[in-house]
Amino acid sequence: MGTACILGIESSCDETAAAVVCAGETTLSNVVLSQIATHQPYGGVVPELASREHLRAIVPVVRRALEEAGKTYDSIDAIAVTQGPGLAGALLVGITYAKALAFALGKPLITVNHLEGHIHAVLLEERQKGGFQIDFPVLSLVVSGGHTHLFLAAEREHGWIYETIGRTRDDAAGEAYDKVAKLLGLGYPGGPVIDALAGHGNPRAVHFGHAQIKHANRGVPKDRQTPYDFSFSGIKTAVLRYVELEDMRGSVQARQQALAGIARPKPEDILPLCDRKTLDLVASFQRAVVRDLVSKTLEAAREREARTLFVTGGVAANSELRRTFELEAGKEGLPVYFPSRRLSTDNAAMIAAAAYPKFVAKDFAGPEFSAEPSLALK
Ligand code: KG4
Ligand code: ZN
Repeated sequence: MGTACILGIESSCDETAAAVVCAGETTLSNVVLSQIATHQPYGGVVPELASREHLRAIVPVVRRALEEAGKTYDSIDAIAVTQGPGLAGALLVGITYAKALAFALGKPLITVNHLEGHIHAVLLEERQKGGFQIDFPVLSLVVSGGHTHLFLAAEREHGWIYETIGRTRDDAAGEAYDKVAKLLGLGYPGGPVIDALAGHGNPRAVHFGHAQIKHANRGVPKDRQTPYDFSFSGIKTAVLRYVELEDMRGSVQARQQALAGIARPKPEDILPLCDRKTLDLVASFQRAVVRDLVSKTLEAAREREARTLFVTGGVAANSELRRTFELEAGKEGLPVYFPSRRLSTDNAAMIAAAAYPKFVAKDFAGPEFSAEPSLALK
């Protein structure tokens, strides 16, 4: 049982991924095929195109993950697949293939919640480092292109149990990065480029106050209010208004045209195309988002007496977010863990790792389950 090797499959959004992880801690392979080039011209993920690309990629990606792991279809112990949350059509590709493989090979099939996968990205790497001691409750901020969730986690016999104590009321933080990058003509995805450009601007130049990252409880019935909810659609609108008021449209268009001629633009290509006003705006946007994420998370940690903090998901790759969390959580003596940048964004190693406690508990899926685009984590 201790050396059980699980093939994980992930296709919930715009990465087709497969990995082999043994006992939830030894990564034998981790293959991620990104669809960025497909979605780049649209400035966001196009669900129909995502499903088509997953269909094209799933078989070769799984084959490569097995090859790199030195495994065959027969020598893996179980197959794990993301059931949700995510795009219905995209999830279905991974699920259908995983079911077919499990059926044909006579191997157990395990369903994984994508958000628990992100949490296991942290656990997987910390276990690999060795000597990892964890104090509960663990507060986990899962912050990505599709999600901004705060979970308070406790231990149960096999695995963890989760209470959702905060979530975004509208856009996810990564979605705000992507939309702001799109309206500033910075390309897709927005997170990595804004992360790289923000250091070149003045984060105090543009003031985004509480009115922009508005109090999420406005208009929400009393019994559904929580003090730790997020809201990121207001700041995106504020950026748009700033671009219009400050007459930045011309510079945005010029940048879009220049970037259209570069196949896969890197931050070094984009920086010379940005004027001071753009860099200041980007830096101020990032500062406001990071401050909001950090302050609400730490407030929740204090009030719910969390002993450990996890920050994971695509936006956890952000340098300023990491720095600020380390500084602020450090002041309160709260240990904070992030995955490496490679495991922050979507991958299948985290899915195979999250499946391991379920494998031990023999918590296997029957053939009848389907994709759950809004699957909750409990
Ligand atoms: O976890 P992920 O790969 O997919 C989802 O589950 O959504 O997250 C992708 C998101 C995108 O919105 C992307 O812009 C954002 O993560 N992202 C970042 C950074 N790298 C990726 N956001 C801020 N800073 C980064 N360095
Ligand atoms: Zn994700």
